[in-house]
Amino acid sequence: MPEQDAFVRAYREADAEAIARLYRETVRTINARDYSAAQIAVWARPEQDGAWWRERMARYPAVFVAERLGEIAGFAETEDSGHVDCLYVHHRHQGVGIGSALLAAIETRARSRGIRRLFADVSLTAHPFFRAKGFTVLRKKASPHRGQRFELYEMEKHLEP
Ligand SMILES: CC(C)(COP(=O)(O)OP(=O)(O)OC[C@H]1O[C@@H](n2cnc3c(N)ncnc32)[C@H](O)[C@@H]1OP(=O)(O)O)[C@@H](O)C(=O)NCCC(=O)NCCS
Repeated sequence: MPEQDAFVRAYREADAEAIARLYRETVRTINARDYSAAQIAVWARPEQDGAWWRERMARYPAVFVAERLGEIAGFAETEDSGHVDCLYVHHRHQGVGIGSALLAAIETRARSRGIRRLFADVSLTAHPFFRAKGFTVLRKKASPHRGQRFELYEMEKHLEP
C-alpha cells in the first residue's frame, strides 16, 4: 500500500452500507465507461442495499476491505476455490494502489492455504488491471444476466508456493 493512511482489513457487518454505496457509485461512474446504460442498470440495482450486501458477504469465507483517508475505498471477495469475485475500488480512490493491495491480500491468503490458482470473470474495465497483476485470459465470453449480455474475460493466475 503506497500511503500510510491506507490499509486493508477483514470485512465487518457494519461495512455493508458503505459497500452498497461504493459498489453503486463505482459501477455507475467507472464501469459505465465500458458498458451501456441498460447494462449498468442491471449491474447496480436499487435492491442491492446494505442488507443485500450483508447477506451476500455472509456466504464468502473471506472479504477484504480497504480504508483510505478515513473511508472505505474498496472491497474484494474471494473463495477457497481460488475464485476472485467482486473487486471494486471507489471512484475517488482509483489509481492509487487500492486494487493492488486488495489483490495482494487475496494472494497472501490463498498462498497460506495452499491455493495455487486464482481465477475471475473480469470486466472490460478491470481487464488491464488483472493483466498488469499477472492474470492471463482463458477466453472472452458474453455472459447473460437479467436480459443483458456482458462481455467479460475469464482470467487466471497460477501462484508460486
Ligand atoms: C480494476 C480496479 C479494481 C483497479 O483498482 P485500482 O485501485 O484503481 O488499481 P491500482 O491503483 O492498484 O492499479 C494497479 C495497476 O493496474 C493497472 N491498471 C489499473 N487500472 C487500469 C486501467 N484502467 N488501464 C490500464 N491499467 C490499469 C496499472 O498498471 C496499475 O499499475 P501502476 O501501479 O504501475 O500504475 C478498479 O479500476 C475498479 O474498481 N474498477 C471498476 C470495478 C470493476 O470492474 N471491478 C472488477 C469486476 S471484475
